[in-house]
Amino acid sequence: MGVPSLISLVFLFLISGFFEFDVVYSYTRPPPRKTIFTPHSEDDSSPQQVHISQVRRDHMMITWITESSTSPTIQYGITPSANNFNHTGVTDSYHYLIYKSGEIHSVIIGPLQPNTIYYYRLGDSSKDYSFKTTPSQFPIKFAVAGDLGQTEWTKSTLDHINMSNYDMLLLPGDLAYADSLQNLWDSFGRLVEPLASQRPWMVTQGNHEVEKIPVLHSEPFTAYNARWKMPYEQSGSDSNLYYSFDVVGVHVIMLGSYTDFDNESNQYKWLQKDLENVIRENTPWVVVLVHAPWYNSNNAHQGESESVDMKASMEDLLYQARADVVFEGHVHAYERFTRVYKDKGDKCGPVYINIGDGGNREGLATKYIDPQPEISLFREANFGHGTLEVFNATHALWNWQKNDNDEAVFSDSIWLTNLFLNPACKV
Ligand SMILES: *[C@@H]1O[C@H](CO)[C@@H](O)[C@H](O)[C@H]1NC(C)=O
Ligand SMILES: *[C@@H]1O[C@H](CO)[C@@H](O)[C@H](O)[C@H]1NC(C)=O
Ligand SMILES: *[C@@H]1O[C@H](CO)[C@@H](O)[C@H](O)[C@H]1NC(C)=O
Ligand SMILES: *[C@@H]1O[C@H](CO)[C@@H](O)[C@H](O)[C@H]1NC(C)=O
Ligand SMILES: [Fe+2]
Repeated sequence: MGVPSLISLVFLFLISGFFEFDVVYSYTRPPPRKTIFTPHSEDDSSPQQVHISQVRRDHMMITWITESSTSPTIQYGITPSANNFNHTGVTDSYHYLIYKSGEIHSVIIGPLQPNTIYYYRLGDSSKDYSFKTTPSQFPIKFAVAGDLGQTEWTKSTLDHINMSNYDMLLLPGDLAYADSLQNLWDSFGRLVEPLASQRPWMVTQGNHEVEKIPVLHSEPFTAYNARWKMPYEQSGSDSNLYYSFDVVGVHVIMLGSYTDFDNESNQYKWLQKDLENVIRENTPWVVVLVHAPWYNSNNAHQGESESVDMKASMEDLLYQARADVVFEGHVHAYERFTRVYKDKGDKCGPVYINIGDGGNREGLATKYIDPQPEISLFREANFGHGTLEVFNATHALWNWQKNDNDEAVFSDSIWLTNLFLNPACKV
């Protein structure tokens, strides 16, 4: 190899490291649909971007934004316009380059009754919102969608999720695809509000949430942490980037692909402890979400450290704890694996499902590794979402629905049986 080509190779290596998410493994994507910008049509003091997330079993955090200064108060009850309960929360805001966010209000309310519709009003606004709390007994239905973005495909996915009669949404990272344009975070908040103000939306971060710019903005996750606060302290975590919670008989763990995960890290130690503390008699199901996939046979995103090294560090913990299922994102396609551990089929390993097909502006990842590995049971590059319906301690039904010409079409369906209650997998 001549010196010039060696230099260009070194140069390519350096810039590919810089653009680590897209350059190394390139793939062709079909035309995506265009980004929708969702405007705010009311006055500056009116609430917008309302979303809720569950805190412990019976509390809810309500988050909303106003462009002018208003108080972070909520009135709520179980009838329309109710003011049986008043609570005041906290207000936050952030700067990003020349952008200054609106006032970001959040308040935790409860204890709340299970499976009940609550009506609420925010600040001085007379607009009535409502949400339904999660049930306290099986069944429970989760909607799962990653890599959402805010395109017409996203709108189609959200319409189908809305029709699914779900109890809680789980999102394995990549929300707004704002990519430093902070107005797009606001637009995303308004796009999802009709759903996210009515059911708890529980999210974890993806690479599009990092938003670090060398020299100009060195702090990661500024917008994400300010706008999408999750109940991490309640699970003993020290970071909004990883946390867990219980809902009905399900322990849900949200992992962070873009923060430290090595065996000395806070995240690793927290996960170890969290798994030790799970009482499977109370929560027989353990469901995990992570953005960068540990199992993936698409050409997209092969070999990235956040997938390979995180899996090397943490796969044993999930396997030994008999986690039931791991939902992954990042790859814009759908794929379901068999139960696996260390790249081989293993009846006591989790089922891995890639559900990064929410509908963002980057389009689909259509090229697959050929032949299909034996452990990969179903793969298809199409936009859509999934639902996990947990019927009881032993049985759950997973369905993937694709957005086929805007119709929701059932495309992959599988019964999952609980691992902890499987005598062959006793630990
Ligand atoms: C809550 O606040 C509203 C408006 O200030 C008031 O009318 C209502 O009586 C309060 N409710 C309680 C329980 O304090
Ligand atoms: C969700 O569905 C309900 C009824 O099924 C409908 O009234 C409502 O407008 C829908 N919301 C959105 C945002 O599509
Ligand atoms: C922690 O990780 C390092 C490097 O990845 C490895 O060499 C070491 O053996 C690991 N320690 C434990 C206790 O697993
Ligand atoms: C659990 O739910 C499945 C699916 O509905 C059903 O076949 C099974 O009998 C149920 N098991 C128990 C113990 O109720
Ligand atoms: Fe991603």
